[in-house]
Amino acid sequence: MTAMISRSSLFSRRTFRQGAISAIGSVKIKLLLSCCIVFVVIAFASRAASFMGWKQSHTAHLGHPSLPRKGYALLINTWKRNDLLKQSISHYASCPGLTSIHIVWSEPDPPSVSLIKYLNHVIESNSRDGQQIELKFDINREDSLNNRFKEIKNLKTDALFSIDDDVIFPCSSVELAFSIWQSAPDTMVGFVPRMHWVDRSKGNSDQFTYGGWWSVWWIGTYSMVLSKAAFFHQKYLSLYTYQMPASIREYVTTNRNCEDIAMSFLVANATGVPPIWVRGKIYEIGSTGISSLGGHSNRRTECVNRFVAEYGHMPLVPTSVKAVDSRSSWFW
Ligand SMILES: *[C@@H]1O[C@H](CO)[C@@H](O)[C@H](O)[C@H]1NC(C)=O
Repeated sequence: MTAMISRSSLFSRRTFRQGAISAIGSVKIKLLLSCCIVFVVIAFASRAASFMGWKQSHTAHLGHPSLPRKGYALLINTWKRNDLLKQSISHYASCPGLTSIHIVWSEPDPPSVSLIKYLNHVIESNSRDGQQIELKFDINREDSLNNRFKEIKNLKTDALFSIDDDVIFPCSSVELAFSIWQSAPDTMVGFVPRMHWVDRSKGNSDQFTYGGWWSVWWIGTYSMVLSKAAFFHQKYLSLYTYQMPASIREYVTTNRNCEDIAMSFLVANATGVPPIWVRGKIYEIGSTGISSLGGHSNRRTECVNRFVAEYGHMPLVPTSVKAVDSRSSWFW
């Protein structure tokens, strides 16, 4: 009895395996076929696109039909690098949705007439479809990193895209981040993730270390996106200047560092949720290269622990979510 059962189960297993093998064979052929079809379609589509005179910008626009009239403002921080500022501004002026540009200026000398003229000229010639983009310099007497987050009066948009002058993101990446921010306008949505790790070497769990790019890349978890490239709601500017503890602003001024961590703490404390990391292509145009994305982690660790003490708890919330453009990810 038992022998019969095992023989029949052996038999059925064999036919199952044969069936499985032929199924794998046909799956392979189907996969190969669909790859061929995909490549033909891609080749044809790109030929047709150039043939019919579609520009990348138009297809990008088609991808986000819900892009509202109310766009976003660019908040750019610069310091004695007019060439980088010119490059950045002339690039972002061509991005759809941009309505105004605010340059945070903390140099002792005001911007030169020729610089203002140049920028107005590139904005006018690069902006699309006669879109009006306002250019404003926020001129500060005091040289403090807190200048970056001063309240902007009469801002027409809620969305701010905060950016450093030495990194450039393609308009398609900026648009993606903007559309994600619109779904979650209270959180920070950005391209440069960082993490706070619990420092177990100190024996207690209320000490933290700052995790730079490589640790985020390795583990895939983050709790901040840096304001060197992030969208956030303009309401956080006044919260930063008027509601955040003055001791944190003083710390930022005297240490010349960590205004971006302070902003991450502020938003996390206000929302109780993590930020959103968006995949985007980064072009570093400054001479600092990759070092601007890493380094100085001891000072950053000090900032994190100092701010935790100010808040009385750790407001940052870790997450592993990464938003990508589905059109640029393979298959699904
Ligand atoms: C953190 O958020 C709470 C609740 O919204 C608020 O009462 C508190 O003032 C915030 N803390 C700081 C330091 O801003």
